[in-house]
Amino acid sequence: MSAGKSFWEMDELRLIVGAMVILGGATGILVVLPYLLLENVKPPAGLKPYTDQQWLGRQTYIANGCVYCHSQQPRDIKQAPDAKRGWGRASVAGDYAYDTPHLLGTMRTGPDLLNIGARQPSKDWHLGHLYQPRAYTPGSIMPSYPFLFEVRQGAAKAGETVVNLPPSFAKAGQVVVAKPEALALVDYLVSLDRTYPALPPLPVAVAPSAKEKP
Ligand code: HEC
Repeated sequence: MSAGKSFWEMDELRLIVGAMVILGGATGILVVLPYLLLENVKPPAGLKPYTDQQWLGRQTYIANGCVYCHSQQPRDIKQAPDAKRGWGRASVAGDYAYDTPHLLGTMRTGPDLLNIGARQPSKDWHLGHLYQPRAYTPGSIMPSYPFLFEVRQGAAKAGETVVNLPPSFAKAGQVVVAKPEALALVDYLVSLDRTYPALPPLPVAVAPSAKEKP
């Protein structure tokens, strides 16, 4: 510290106070304000909590990095033609009431998946697409996830889920069986459906009674 300077002239102090002001401002804008805005957001009536199986699938989605290529946040028509792409209405805070951590994503190498369950409800399709995306979308750059499946010669055992690949991708005498992780992941994908109305319906206007009429 340099001698002879008053308290407020000390460089160290200015630095510390300046840093505190910036940190305090940032905390206010990025932490406190969003908290106050979102603390009372309730899950919409149309949104169901995840089942244990769907939650397990969500963990598989996270573990396999699906979020690096897929967003879960259709945007407003003023910002992007997401609704025209068939990805659904712009999402609202309540849509994520059961999502901890949220999987909004920052990249869209593939389509947005917040409503994939409504758009593609077929579990068969999802299993086959995860095993080999190119069997369903020619030229797809999505990686295949063969380790979520077991490929065997011969028949499947009782209770196993066989993946029905398109004929040109199915190999004779070979059976592709979905592992529990693949089944859970697909249960999660088909549960992704936020097509209910974003906002509660407006109160119905009360018709004036006969007496009140002039
Ligand atoms: C490298 C980027 C990439 C990764 C990682 C990725 N995907 Fe994809 N995904 C794509 C692309 C590109 C498409 C569009 C082509 C297609 O249908 O295969 C796609 C399509 C899809 C579709 C069909 C969407 C629609 O609207 O028809 C689903 C479902 C899907 N991916 C799920 C997943 C899941 C689940 C994972 C993780 C296990 C994953 N993706 C990982 C790039 C990726």
